[in-house]
Amino acid sequence: MKPADHGGLRAARFSDWDDDRLGECDPREFADLLHRRALDIAEDVYHAGNYEMAELDPAVYRERLTFYLRRRAWGECYFGTLTPARQITLLGADEAAMKLRLARQIKDEVRHHDVFAYEVKRLGGEWRIAHFPAPRTLLRMYEVQLARSSAAELAAANQYSGEIVLSVQDREEDNVLRMLLDERIMTALEDIEADEPAHIAIGRDLVRQYARTPGEMRAMAAAQELFLEAQIAQHVSEIQALGCRRVRAAPVFESRANDSPDSRDR
Ligand SMILES: [Fe+2]
Ligand SMILES: [Fe+2]
Repeated sequence: MKPADHGGLRAARFSDWDDDRLGECDPREFADLLHRRALDIAEDVYHAGNYEMAELDPAVYRERLTFYLRRRAWGECYFGTLTPARQITLLGADEAAMKLRLARQIKDEVRHHDVFAYEVKRLGGEWRIAHFPAPRTLLRMYEVQLARSSAAELAAANQYSGEIVLSVQDREEDNVLRMLLDERIMTALEDIEADEPAHIAIGRDLVRQYARTPGEMRAMAAAQELFLEAQIAQHVSEIQALGCRRVRAAPVFESRANDSPDSRDR
């Protein structure tokens, strides 16, 4: 598809950059590029102006809300506890401080799981995640993480992807979730979001630490791209299921070799 036909956000695919272009970035600049890219996508996916509201039967809404909350509980467990636990096993013996930060993240994420499980129970739903029929796109998100074998690539695909996307979900302005979820659920999201800056900082620090060569940067960029592609599909689908229709094309990654991050079109 030609860029002009898409009409949506097109994020630069950094994994296509050659060694010279990636080598121009110092580790901090590279981490900033990944952060900005995930945030741009998050803002687009959750921007209220990209959706129009649809009528939903109240019983259908309740059923879909229950499914959404079950999905959220599943995500807190799989992305929030299992992936950081793998990162701990992949770090070296001299990285105790980072392992402890990851362990603290796991503690936070167990609490997040319980927040969503409680809301599922309140609605009379099955809260046990072992019984959750995970959608294909959700499993794809987890598969992207399972296929990574370094703590830094996992950071790019987790704390520096999904957690950045979550960080826009409690915004006051232009937030589609505020049109779809009631005050009680939004308060729960706000409570959870208060923990996320520390998790995103773990991602930032792991990305900076391991952005030593163009090859390492490319692997992290690719991990983030694969995860975000699956996450965009999952999140747009579940936003629409709660009672709206997306009116702008979903974000895509675009290969434009060695482009500047400032040259992105919107
Ligand atoms: Fe969480
Ligand atoms: Fe988190």
